[in-house]
Amino acid sequence: MANNDSIKKTITVALLLCIVCSVVVSTASVVLKPLQIANKELDFKRNILAAAGLLEEGKRVDDLFGAIETKIVDLETGQFSSDIDAASYDQRAAVKDPKLSDALSAEEDLASLSRREKFAKVYLVNGDSGLEKVILPISGYGLWGTMYGFLALEADMNTVVGLGFYDHKETPGLGAEIENPKWKALWEGKEIYSSDGSVAFTVIKGSVAPGSAGAQYKVDGLSGATLTSVGVDHMIKFWLGENGYSVFLNKLKAGEA
Ligand SMILES: Cc1cc2nc3c(=O)[nH]c(=O)nc-3n(C[C@H](O)[C@H](O)[C@H](O)COP(=O)(O)O)c2cc1C
Repeated sequence: MANNDSIKKTITVALLLCIVCSVVVSTASVVLKPLQIANKELDFKRNILAAAGLLEEGKRVDDLFGAIETKIVDLETGQFSSDIDAASYDQRAAVKDPKLSDALSAEEDLASLSRREKFAKVYLVNGDSGLEKVILPISGYGLWGTMYGFLALEADMNTVVGLGFYDHKETPGLGAEIENPKWKALWEGKEIYSSDGSVAFTVIKGSVAPGSAGAQYKVDGLSGATLTSVGVDHMIKFWLGENGYSVFLNKLKAGEA
């Protein structure tokens, strides 16, 4: 009988174990990949619905998402575009493609993004009386990385319905409190634009005193996470400003998009 303590046997067993383990791990990775992609897609849709206040307990996300119209906007002209296929367009990837994005000057780059995509994928909620809500993808640098989310506006293109973040690198308990439902609830009903059309909205340091001047434009900063709060403030100022969605929102409001 062969000696179980022989070096040859030990190496053979270790090698076999390595091969079996690597086959199991790579099979799991290949088999689970489509599931991971599907889950990411579902989470993306869930966030869009949540920002628009359309998530309903017990209802399938895909069914609820069926009520949402997805369209491509040319950010330069502020008009809907059919040059790009909405279903396959990846806005996050487009920002890295020189053909699909433009470099931002230091003065323009409020949200520290370096580049801005030429086309945005927006989501429209239509009701019996026409357009009810518009959901806009937004992004901007926080403390540790780029934060990605959505901002939903009422049909007046000014009042906030809600916001949500689906990807960021902020610290749990600090910057990651941007996901806290209590904080997000503070945004509901806030206004973006002042009467002259400029972005008046701001995330302040500290708390907004109810009824104080301009309170309708202000949201409390996150305590202990001022740097992330500033990132969110800059993100809103960039995306709702003239290099973001303001041209489109004005056209959409006037029925000219
Ligand atoms: C490990 C570590 C992680 C931190 N993460 C965040 C963060 O995600 N967002 C943030 O704004 N501040 C974060 N901070 C705190 C910032 O350095 C800074 O102190 C804070 O933003 C200031 O906010 P305050 O003026 O409300 O205290 C972190 C600090 C440490 C030590």
